[in-house]
Amino acid sequence: MKSAVLLLSSSLALASAFCDHGTRAFNRRAEPSEKVKFGYEDLLGPVVWQGIDEQSAVCATGRHQSPISISQANSKAVQGSRLNFTVESYPNGAEFLNLGTTLEVLANGTMALGDKDYSLVQYHVHTPSEHRINREYYPMEVHFVFQAEDDSLAVVGIMVEVASEEQTSDFVSATFANLDKAPNAGSVTETPALDFGALQAHINNSTEGVAWNVVEKPVFMNTTLYREIKNNLKFNSRFTQNEPGAINLLDQARLLLNGQVKPGSNATGLGDDE
Ligand SMILES: *[C@@H]1O[C@H](CO)[C@@H](O)[C@H](O)[C@H]1NC(C)=O
Ligand SMILES: *[C@@H]1O[C@H](CO)[C@@H](O)[C@H](O)[C@H]1NC(C)=O
Ligand SMILES: *[C@@H]1O[C@H](CO)[C@@H](O)[C@H](O)[C@H]1NC(C)=O
Ligand SMILES: *[C@@H]1O[C@H](CO)[C@@H](O)[C@H](O)[C@H]1NC(C)=O
Ligand SMILES: *[C@@H]1O[C@H](CO)[C@@H](O)[C@H](O)[C@H]1NC(C)=O
Ligand SMILES: *[C@@H]1O[C@H](CO)[C@@H](O)[C@H](O)[C@H]1NC(C)=O
Ligand SMILES: [Zn+2]
Repeated sequence: MKSAVLLLSSSLALASAFCDHGTRAFNRRAEPSEKVKFGYEDLLGPVVWQGIDEQSAVCATGRHQSPISISQANSKAVQGSRLNFTVESYPNGAEFLNLGTTLEVLANGTMALGDKDYSLVQYHVHTPSEHRINREYYPMEVHFVFQAEDDSLAVVGIMVEVASEEQTSDFVSATFANLDKAPNAGSVTETPALDFGALQAHINNSTEGVAWNVVEKPVFMNTTLYREIKNNLKFNSRFTQNEPGAINLLDQARLLLNGQVKPGSNATGLGDDE
């Protein structure tokens, strides 16, 4: 694939089921006091997310789940500038939240997808990346979570690769500069000055590289920063989902365990349809 942005089909909801912190969809999920816990391992992990609440049942049956491995076969690349992606700059810093399940910054911005306008709610990170590009994963993925007036959500994913110091992306450095001041789940701090000009240029300049709203060309962070983030987050990435339209892998496992299909068979066509 040429450098570009890979475009999300509108039927595909979020980058993964729980990227929606702070959005109206998240607020509807349950009263804040009774928010059910989710995580990335053991009995809270992505294999059992379908049990968290009613809306999450689709995690085990839906056939358009994220993340996926993006390829030419399952996506159409578009020019990055078509997203009209902008994030306000914060010369005095912005709020940085350690949610335990991710590290998040509250910032405003705008984006256009098709003929719909979206407003930024927050951005957060996953390590390792949730999406893969031609099956390759990246050390980190940033999700910019946008919401339209009709409450629909759209996420723009930026891959972050590890590189030498000179290549460190300014917005990535600034985002995590005060991580040591919010080391634990539930803690909050401020970032230093944030500016997204270089990131906007990077996305605008992705001549044909956005599919599934994931920008194909990565930005960079240095190894010191990578280790610091990884040490804090440990692991917060949902497993790669089946190709869009194909049977949910958990559904396939259910059919297999019930003896309804044979090992190695392709149960697409059976099971629940989304
Ligand atoms: C994107 O921005 C350009 C220039 O600001 C504007 O002309 C265009 O209408 C915008 N596109 C969408 C889909 O909002
Ligand atoms: C990138 O595109 C956005 C939206 O079209 C525009 O507002 C911004 O000025 C562009 N930025 C750069 C650095 O090219
Ligand atoms: C985003 O914009 C809203 C409305 O203008 C404002 O109330 C809010 O403080 C802004 N948030 C941030 C993080 O800039
Ligand atoms: C790596 O990046 C961080 C900021 O992200 C910076 O503080 C540090 O000086 C850089 N270099 C090394 C060698 O750690
Ligand atoms: C845009 O992309 C071209 C080709 O990859 C590169 O040479 C140029 O430096 C990039 N410009 C910006 C502002 O990123
Ligand atoms: C499974 O079947 C579906 C529908 O026939 C097809 O699109 C898909 O490519 C198949 N997958 C594999 C791995 O054979
Ligand atoms: Zn996310």
